[in-house]
Amino acid sequence: MTRVLVLNGPNLGRLGAREPEVYGHATHDDLVERCRAVGMSLGLDVEVRQTDNEAELVSWLHEAAEASTPVVLNPAAFTHYSYAVRDALAQVSAPTVEVHLSNPAAREDFRHTSVVAGVVSGSISGFGLTSYELALRAVAARLAGAGP
Ligand code: DQA
Repeated sequence: MTRVLVLNGPNLGRLGAREPEVYGHATHDDLVERCRAVGMSLGLDVEVRQTDNEAELVSWLHEAAEASTPVVLNPAAFTHYSYAVRDALAQVSAPTVEVHLSNPAAREDFRHTSVVAGVVSGSISGFGLTSYELALRAVAARLAGAGP
C-alpha cells in the first residue's frame, strides 16, 4: 500500500471546539478516522499528523521529500505567510495537495493569499472533511497515472 501523509498545521488540533460556525463540529479525531477510512478504500496507508509548530511541520515535509511520500497538507495559518513551509513543500516530488476546510477566498483579505499554492499539484477548499477525502482521491488518481 502506498503511504500518504496528511499533515495539519496550527490550531487544527482544536477542531470541533474551534469556531464551529466556520470549521464545523467534527474533531481532529474524526478527521483522522475519515482520512484513514477513505485511504483504506483507495488502497492508501494514510498517516495523519497535526502540529502547532512550524519547525516540526518543515521536518515532516523533509521526511516526505526524502521518502517521496505523497502529502495532503492543510498548512492552516501558515498557508498565508510561511515561506519555510512553502520551500519545504517544493522539495516533495510526489503528488501534493493543499486542502482547507473553509474557503479562504470567501473570507478575510489576508486569507486570499496562499504562499504554498504555487508548489502543490493542486488545491481543494471549502468542503469541510470532504476536502480531505477529495484530496486523497486526487492523490490516488495521480498515482494511478491520471493526468495532467
Ligand atoms: C484553514 C484556513 C486558514 O485560513 C486558517 O488559518 C486555518 C484553517 C482551513 O482549513 O479552512 O487555520 O486552513
